[in-house]
Amino acid sequence: MARNDTRVLLLEGIHETAVDSFAAAGYLNVERLKHSLAGPDLSSAIADVDLIGIRSRTQINAGAIAAAKRLKAIGCFCIGTNQVDLDSSRREGIPVFNAPFSNTRSVAELAIADIILLMRGIPEKSARARRGEWAKTARNAHEVRGKCLGIVGYGRIGSQLGILAEGLGMRVLYYDIEHKLPLGNAAPATTLEELFAEADVVSLHVPETPATRNMIDADALHRMRPGSLLINAARGSVVDIEALAKALSSGQIGGAAIDVFPVEPKSNQEIFESPLREFDNVILTPHIGGATEEAQFNIAREVVAKLVKYHANGSSVSAVNFPQVTIPDHEGRRRILHIHRNEPGVMEQINRVFSAHGVNVAAQYLETYADVGYVVMDIELEDAVSFLSELEAIPATIRVRVLR
Ligand code: NAI
Repeated sequence: MARNDTRVLLLEGIHETAVDSFAAAGYLNVERLKHSLAGPDLSSAIADVDLIGIRSRTQINAGAIAAAKRLKAIGCFCIGTNQVDLDSSRREGIPVFNAPFSNTRSVAELAIADIILLMRGIPEKSARARRGEWAKTARNAHEVRGKCLGIVGYGRIGSQLGILAEGLGMRVLYYDIEHKLPLGNAAPATTLEELFAEADVVSLHVPETPATRNMIDADALHRMRPGSLLINAARGSVVDIEALAKALSSGQIGGAAIDVFPVEPKSNQEIFESPLREFDNVILTPHIGGATEEAQFNIAREVVAKLVKYHANGSSVSAVNFPQVTIPDHEGRRRILHIHRNEPGVMEQINRVFSAHGVNVAAQYLETYADVGYVVMDIELEDAVSFLSELEAIPATIRVRVLR
């Protein structure tokens, strides 16, 4: 069914697959802009659309959300969502979706490439060849087969990396603060100490938290095996870069691949400064662990699917800021979505409206956050619009929507 009355705005050059995916779901009224919007431009654009898609540059603050009276949902076509004021958005009844796993594989593949190149000493050999030196030797060049990979943070990326590394014949050890199911033949280390003592390569895949800040400092580097390799494609704050530079100078660390930095250039026009630039045995990449065409394509498909599902069916599963309601399709029934402040007696008031109209509620799905409740109701009645104003008049109501 064509949904030309639903206006969609995509900012920041979101992959064009998003437009195709919307079209395949019947959403043809989609505008795609290459740039981001801010201030009054954003407020007036957001006031006029039902769904908005952004990447990391567009800041959707409380002011923009207050203007978004028509907006049903926000899609962050990326991993992070801190560019959106999530609490304001929830309090205005607007769920926010993102794409947490669409670039997992891309990061894991980069780590595999880093491991193989570092084990063979390729970054250094390549740098020397560029300078006209012929460094033909097998000394310090190793196969990865049989070596131990220590993965710190065994989440989506860490566990995917473990599987790929085992495919290359590596032995996988991991450390995580949570109890995690070991995949393949991976084995958990009880302490970081144990992992450092055994790993030939340490690969970091933890989030940025107070506990992971400078997790790899001078002391940690000293506890790793002499000559071991370090990979950081997690967050720049996890490694003390000055300490790493010292450990590389002394040979305690035999090579590193670093994709993320404590301070990163804000644009491709800015100069990249780092004490690691001087080392031939370090692979430096500009935070592109998850940046592949495939990841962009998958992100577009994942986020559009979530926006369409919420818009057309009411399912808020995987929203990052909203009560999560999983619901089947509503063939042959009217579906009412009611978002309200989570106050005592709201459900009673809603049910009173239905019984006053003699409406049979065939199914009801309710989930709540501390401040916001979301109830989805399927009713056996053709004309749900007639008592919509009564649902809107319930004092705790934030938004009501009827799905056709
Ligand atoms: P995830 O949330 O699936 O996994 C993180 C794991 O780290 C979890 O299992 C968690 O229990 C564990 N963890 C948290 N604190 C820990 C600690 N103190 N010690 C040990 N383990 C701890 O996250 P995902 O998707 O695997 O991402 C991992 C990291 O990769 C994140 O920092 C993310 O920002 C980064 N990332 C980097 C990209 C790039 O372009 N370089 C792209 C995508 C993600």
